[in-house]
Amino acid sequence: MRVLVTGGAGFIGSHLVSRFLEEGFRVRVLDSLEPKVHPYGRPNDIPSGVDFIQGEVTDRRALLAALHDVDIVSHQAAYQDYMPDFSRFLHVNAVGTSLLYELIVREKLKVKKVIVASSQSVYGEGQYVCSVHGFVQPAPRSQEQLSLGQWEVRCLSVTSRLSRVCCRRITQTRITNTPCLNSLLRKLLLG
Ligand SMILES: NC(=O)c1ccc[n+]([C@@H]2O[C@H](COP(=O)([O-])OP(=O)(O)OC[C@H]3O[C@@H](n4cnc5c(N)ncnc54)[C@H](O)[C@@H]3O)[C@@H](O)[C@H]2O)c1
Ligand SMILES: [Zn+2]
Repeated sequence: MRVLVTGGAGFIGSHLVSRFLEEGFRVRVLDSLEPKVHPYGRPNDIPSGVDFIQGEVTDRRALLAALHDVDIVSHQAAYQDYMPDFSRFLHVNAVGTSLLYELIVREKLKVKKVIVASSQSVYGEGQYVCSVHGFVQPAPRSQEQLSLGQWEVRCLSVTSRLSRVCCRRITQTRITNTPCLNSLLRKLLLG
């Protein structure tokens, strides 16, 4: 079985590459070596058994070449962090992900599974239990609240008490920033 790890030179991708190799997969990486992530160029700890392609997930030819004879795609390539070039975020993350599916469908590739990274940031501040309303997903803190230096999230009533909960399924998304929108788009593309 061959796996393609897009963004395989990055933080999460590189760990996945090691694990896939350990599990006996043949591993290919497609990574543009984005200079903000790799200011010194290609990391020298990419395992020798990896078929490494330097290229962009938005480049149709590079992506199609990387998909050749691949059974599983682990899609970790992403443009992220809080940078002001918003259109590049969407181009790499949303268009790149769409192109992946487009090529698989159009070229009738034998890919059986695509694994896409998301982010807990799509859930905004997360889930809390309110002493009055039960389970709630609080809105982002207001400018007024922040200017008063009140950092804790609040429920509808200022006097109710919120406690954080971790292990409950969150059903609502709260889009608050561009990385968050990207992650949600990637999830939605999965259908
Ligand atoms: N690190 C975290 O804590 C975390 C948490 C939740 C979700 N995620 C998600 O996991 C994924 C991977 O995150 P990471 O932390 O490994 O990021 P990273 O920045 O370390 O790695 C991303 C890799 O993608 C490559 N890349 C960027 N643009 C590309 C392009 N156009 N074409 C090909 N490759 C490109 C970069 O060179 C880099 O090697 C992202 O989708 C991220 O949102 C990360
Ligand atoms: Zn409440």
